Amino acid sequence: MIRVESLNDLWQARESLDEPVAIVPTMGFLHEGHLSLVRAAKKRATSVVVSIFVNPTQFNQETDLEVYPRDVERDLALLENEGVDLVWIPTNEVMYPPGFQTWVEVGEIANPLEGEKRPGHFKGVATVVSKLFTAVQPQIAFFGQKDAQQVAVIKQMTRDLNFPIEIVAVPIARENDGLAMSSRNVNLNPEERDASVVLYQALQAAKIAYDGGERNGDALRLLMKEIISAQPLASIDYMSCADPSNLQELEVIASEALISLAIYIGKTRLIDNLILEK
Ligand code: PAJ
Repeated sequence: MIRVESLNDLWQARESLDEPVAIVPTMGFLHEGHLSLVRAAKKRATSVVVSIFVNPTQFNQETDLEVYPRDVERDLALLENEGVDLVWIPTNEVMYPPGFQTWVEVGEIANPLEGEKRPGHFKGVATVVSKLFTAVQPQIAFFGQKDAQQVAVIKQMTRDLNFPIEIVAVPIARENDGLAMSSRNVNLNPEERDASVVLYQALQAAKIAYDGGERNGDALRLLMKEIISAQPLASIDYMSCADPSNLQELEVIASEALISLAIYIGKTRLIDNLILEK
């Protein structure tokens, strides 16, 4: 496995890779969710590149960036074990050279949900991912369905900017009790960790109601709200039952719906989602 930091070293190493090349962009502190993306990439591509970069421009809260967990040596061991070909760990100066002033901003699809609650977040994500795409020149890129809106934003950007890259969404990897894996889960104390299962419970309750014939968006949002409100350590940032194609809230579910949640458990903000299929 080759490890590079500078753009020159990346470009040189990229030349030696057999195509098709896949990229798995990450912010490190890897868990099984990230590794499921790597495994999906290994199946589809001849060479796999993983980037590790805690992107400061997508954090809208300074404290969130400060407490973001990091362990590069452990990440490298995990990636080596998965048979990754190339790991790119750029510095802040590589990604944002002094005087940086060029941004990628995606329109409507980036506005609701995470976009509304985390102003500037998707501008940071779209900018860094387009820089990763441009530098690595992959044929395929893998993203987790855990960040459902991020997938939608990246797909939109890829179409709009004509990147010749296939975007693949990989299902959410979960802990045994249903909690979606996340680097942020290490910030939960044991009591909060127990409470955090409420996100999955709320989504499951909505799915059961949907499977039983409930098609009213408000009814599903209310059901999730009742379950979250019963957990004293949880507070709601948003709850959504939206059209997966444009992320607009639905009054009535005619075909599919994306139900998604952002919940604070103590100080830690967790997100999760589920697709209600036709
Ligand atoms: P990060 O949070 O490190 O996640 C990297 C990738 O792993 C994302 O595509 C994310 O959706 C996926 N992922 C995280 N947890 C997952 C889980 N439980 N199951 C499946 N996939 C999961 O998302 C980012 O980094 C950044 O925004 C990035 C795209 C790297 C741009 O900076």
